[in-house]
Amino acid sequence: MVQDRYGHYIGGEWDDGDGSETFASTNPATGERLVTVRRGTESDVQRAVSAAEAASESWRELSYVDRAEYLWDVSHELRERTDELGEIVTKESGKEISEGKADVVEAAHMVELAAGNARHPHGDVVPSEIASKDAYMRRRPKGVVGCITPWNFPVAIPYWHMAVSLVEGNTVVWKPAEQTPWCGHVVAEMFDEAGVPPGVFNLVQGYGEAGNAIVEDDRVDTVLFTGSVEVGHRVAEKIGGRPGRNACCEMGGKNSVVVTEAADVDIALHSAVMSVFKTTGQRCVSAERLVVHTDVYDEFKERFVDLAEAVTVGDPLSEDTFMGPLADADQVAKFRRYNDMARTHDDVTVLVDRAELDAAEVPEGHDAGFWVGPFAYEVPPETDLDPFREEVFGPHVALVEYEGGVERAIEIQNDTDYGLAGAIVSEDYRQLNHYRDHAEVGLAYANLPCIGAEVQLPFGGVKQSGSGPPHAREVIDAVTERTAWTLNNSKEISMAQGLSAEIRTDE
Ligand code: UN1
Repeated sequence: MVQDRYGHYIGGEWDDGDGSETFASTNPATGERLVTVRRGTESDVQRAVSAAEAASESWRELSYVDRAEYLWDVSHELRERTDELGEIVTKESGKEISEGKADVVEAAHMVELAAGNARHPHGDVVPSEIASKDAYMRRRPKGVVGCITPWNFPVAIPYWHMAVSLVEGNTVVWKPAEQTPWCGHVVAEMFDEAGVPPGVFNLVQGYGEAGNAIVEDDRVDTVLFTGSVEVGHRVAEKIGGRPGRNACCEMGGKNSVVVTEAADVDIALHSAVMSVFKTTGQRCVSAERLVVHTDVYDEFKERFVDLAEAVTVGDPLSEDTFMGPLADADQVAKFRRYNDMARTHDDVTVLVDRAELDAAEVPEGHDAGFWVGPFAYEVPPETDLDPFREEVFGPHVALVEYEGGVERAIEIQNDTDYGLAGAIVSEDYRQLNHYRDHAEVGLAYANLPCIGAEVQLPFGGVKQSGSGPPHAREVIDAVTERTAWTLNNSKEISMAQGLSAEIRTDE
């Protein structure tokens, strides 16, 4: 059985914090209370930042390889505890069990990428105009990295933020989502077990005020944020104006699957169902628009509707389930609000409405869960409809019929402020390449769902979806500073660009 009350992890110690308030995580499938956790305060965050700052010098003085050794131990913990932690992910987030485990596996992959990278070259040898000069690009850790992470990938995304940050020689202060503190606690246990030196990794559990305290603390050099657009923009704005600090924010999408007249419709359906309904539509890369050519539209629509009517919504701990519940009451309210906007618009034809599930569809003993089912509708592409452009973050999808070339489909897809992920389904390589070059997205897929990126790829979006991806491969640029280091091997000084090095005097 789990311990009743979890705290923070600061300076290598479990810590009850300065505040007296607690909060609980809830199983979205059952409504059951899972763990009670101390609610972090501004002063808890400040103590965590002090611990991170104090640990910084000795951590950055270790070799890359020595730092990575600790991370290898963490990756072994992740591998050994995949089933246990995967189940906790499922209990706290509601994701079905294969996704719960995949979250932990993705975390292990990220740690392995970061630790393995410690043995790879870390900079460039750069040529000089002057034969006696050696020039290099070297990396230096930023210092203290603050990480604020979401509930939908409660294990993978924290490691996207932290693994490279730590191997590069930074220390971290992490605030997990308030919906998934149990996952946060287990992650901290793993750092503790691995014997990571005190202060190198710090966890403060809590709500927005704890996250805000990370953002407000000028001793935090870099803030990595993955979450909503509203909060992400506030973080970016706050830190943007402060010299010496930087923020990288990843903030969602309004993603599409384009199905052209040259599509294999079986592949298109598979791609669409995975992209739209996996994780109950709660990935920032989930698709909420299916842009389908008129020549294949009727067949696609009929078969998609049949599948959406049939996908299994059920107990996320059961391996037969395709879709678990939504994460919490706020997600349900948002899903309903957007469904209502669509339902009441004159241009919209609702195709599938399982949004309010029948009692018989809710798994036994799970009545208090946040259950919803697929909601699908068709709408002309030119309709001015918020649900068609804004992120819903649920199993809510618009089908759009288009005529003309692939350019038209891409124009429809690009007509949103977001630009995270997208997919095209087509057997025509010219269409695929046109899409690759013109879709305004950071992650583009062909003949695949638009979910399921691997950690060795850059992950992140364009437009409002993000600024300076806070994770996966590219995070290295966010958490290091580059030094151009130039060394003269000669006793003489010679300058580049033909600049005279002669010192002239009056004598
Ligand atoms: C997210 O969508 O919030 O690409 C993260 C994927 C996963 C990560 C998604 N590797 O689907």
